[in-house]
Amino acid sequence: MKILILPGDGVGKEVTSEAEKVLNIISKLYKLDIRVDFGFFGGEAVDIYDTPFPDETKQKIKNSDAVLLGAVGGPQYDNASKEKKPETGLLELRKSLNLFLNVRPIISFRESIDYSSVKKELIEDLDIVIIRELVSGIYFGEPRGFNSDFTEAHNTMRYNQKEISRIADYALNLSRERSKKLCSVDKANVLEVSQLWRTTVEESAVNFKDVALSHMYVDNAAMQLVQNPKQFDVIVTENLFGDILSDLASVLTGSIGLLPSASLNNDGFGVYEPIHGSAPDIAGKNIVNPIATILSVAMLFQHTFKRADIYHHILESVKFVLKEGKYTKDLSEVKFISTSEMGDCIIQKIEELK
Ligand code: IPM
Ligand code: MN
Repeated sequence: MKILILPGDGVGKEVTSEAEKVLNIISKLYKLDIRVDFGFFGGEAVDIYDTPFPDETKQKIKNSDAVLLGAVGGPQYDNASKEKKPETGLLELRKSLNLFLNVRPIISFRESIDYSSVKKELIEDLDIVIIRELVSGIYFGEPRGFNSDFTEAHNTMRYNQKEISRIADYALNLSRERSKKLCSVDKANVLEVSQLWRTTVEESAVNFKDVALSHMYVDNAAMQLVQNPKQFDVIVTENLFGDILSDLASVLTGSIGLLPSASLNNDGFGVYEPIHGSAPDIAGKNIVNPIATILSVAMLFQHTFKRADIYHHILESVKFVLKEGKYTKDLSEVKFISTSEMGDCIIQKIEELK
């Protein structure tokens, strides 16, 4: 099992080093041959190589089964040219590996519920999965750019049927394993791309008669996610809508510091990363919550190595630690433990629960 860690920027190093401890303990307990390597990516790579996604890192990815990514970005790169922005590296990583399938589970933990800005009863036991298309749509559509005197700009939202049906099929399959309810989010009242999205999802759904498919406009979906999130189970949507809705959904649970994600292609290769960003304001203080990254390791075992048992083992250990009242600063301003203490508590619990 060859895992490449790209710590990246800001809090990235702190969260990935806790995740590495988890990899080590899992490797020991399950007697797995896990090999970990490290690469430069994002702003740090810009500083060293003048590009966010250096060839050396590309080569290392080729030699690995999965990538664990911390976070990229920082205020010092905000005004950099496009090819020197950390985000450009992230988009190239997704595109070059064809990671079209982005899985973002939105699970609420009892312990963080009081930190949510919505009422407790609306989010108790919330368990939603957002499936976001990740390599097409307005993020990548051509033509794009500015006119010659920079007084006008344009982007193109574009999808073809193949790109829509492959993600619809995944979402339908997942819904079948869960509550058999799928909501596809679009803007078909305005956009042709969304009309194609809707009819293509419907065509895929013909083979999934047992799944109840519904459609919702994205503006309404944003409202419904706040007003009545538990009506949703699996949500499937295009790239930009998925970006926005997943940030919205992540704070429902009280802390964005808890939620992992997986970006996958058809070969089982995946890039696993916390949903939160590089959080430069708290970087280097040993206060960031490492749980989102540790759960990203859990997803790595689940998706790339097909080890659902290890996924559940890590998830249960995290839940136990929270239940015992151990919180990082995002969850408890008054009495909290550090990033590294949280990592230690979780690996101890992983050993206990084996
Ligand atoms: C995300 C991020 C990225 C995106 C940025 C950093 C390019 O917001 O993964 O959601 O927009 O996809
Ligand atoms: Mn985002």
